[in-house]
Amino acid sequence: MTVVAVAGGTGGLGRAIVETLRDLQKHEILVLTRKVNPIFEAEVGVRTVAVDYTSVDSLKTSLEDNKVHTVICTLNVMENGDPQLNCIQAADLSKSTKRFIPANFGVPHKNEHVIDSFPNAIIKRQANAALEKSSLEYTNIYNGLFMDYYGMPHIKSYLQPTSMAIDIPSRTAAIPGSGDVPLVLTYTFDVARFVGALLGQEKWDVESYVIGDRVTWNQLLQIAEEVTETKFNTTYDSVEKLKRGEMTLLPSHLPVRALFQDGQLETVLSAFGLWFNDGAYNLTADRTLNDTFPEIKTRKVRDFLQEAWGASK
Ligand SMILES: NC(=O)c1ccc[n+]([C@@H]2O[C@H](COP(=O)([O-])OP(=O)(O)OC[C@H]3O[C@@H](n4cnc5c(N)ncnc54)[C@H](OP(=O)(O)O)[C@@H]3O)[C@@H](O)[C@H]2O)c1
Repeated sequence: MTVVAVAGGTGGLGRAIVETLRDLQKHEILVLTRKVNPIFEAEVGVRTVAVDYTSVDSLKTSLEDNKVHTVICTLNVMENGDPQLNCIQAADLSKSTKRFIPANFGVPHKNEHVIDSFPNAIIKRQANAALEKSSLEYTNIYNGLFMDYYGMPHIKSYLQPTSMAIDIPSRTAAIPGSGDVPLVLTYTFDVARFVGALLGQEKWDVESYVIGDRVTWNQLLQIAEEVTETKFNTTYDSVEKLKRGEMTLLPSHLPVRALFQDGQLETVLSAFGLWFNDGAYNLTADRTLNDTFPEIKTRKVRDFLQEAWGASK
């Protein structure tokens, strides 16, 4: 059995991947973490290995000592890309490590997505530049927005609850732009099943697309209203408003507002609003992982919302 290490496997997406790979029983799974986590080990039944993300040498030793063949990086790289860059360098130096999946799991970022208030886009580009220079085989997984946000807390997910555009618990929506541009949404456990399939694939493309479902914000809103049998309190934020860095905050945004400097949350969310409106989340690809692995059926928005909210309307 080859050894697969999930860096950040204690987190939101990471834990979904770890549990899914554990159940497949095709690989030995390890979780790289900043601190050994006995509670996680007992709950999940997967070994954690404490690593120092600031030291390439010690990361390399950890990878070689554990004979890690593939690293799946699901670290939180919103603000700081160095832990992932160090992992890439260590994996490149490690004699046992051949493959790497970087912490992307969103959309390919265009030049205009690189903004000071949201360093994530530049961090992802730096990771790709490092991987390109390395001898590692790698693939970026593009899955659009996680569908989980529209089913939590009723659907199993380890993500932090938040929401973009539609806040189902409060029956409120603030739609960016027209709301008529499609976007791709994928459930984290579906992403995880495609990761499992990729591990068995002989050759990887640099980009791997996963399409859970594709709807517009207006369609998602309509489904949410039908499923909950409630008319949502809805506003539309114009493109001009979003370009000014302004947008309507939803009730679910308020608890996280305190974590941002004044107005910074609005700046970040309005940037997302513009990306949705310009079709960045409307992923297109000549060939997707759905085409390559047709046996993997993904969750669809209507069924997902029905399961999550149908009983609580
Ligand atoms: N498309 C979408 O809608 C969407 C939404 C959210 C996230 N994502 C992507 O999904 C991936 C995982 O995101 P997530 O929300 O699952 O991550 P997360 O839960 O916030 O973090 C994952 C793990 O990273 C480790 N970590 C956190 N801060 C760190 C730091 N400063 N240095 C080193 N390690 C740190 C922690 O593990 P330990 O404490 O065990 O070390 C944590 O459990 C990222 O690539 C992100 O961009 C996509």
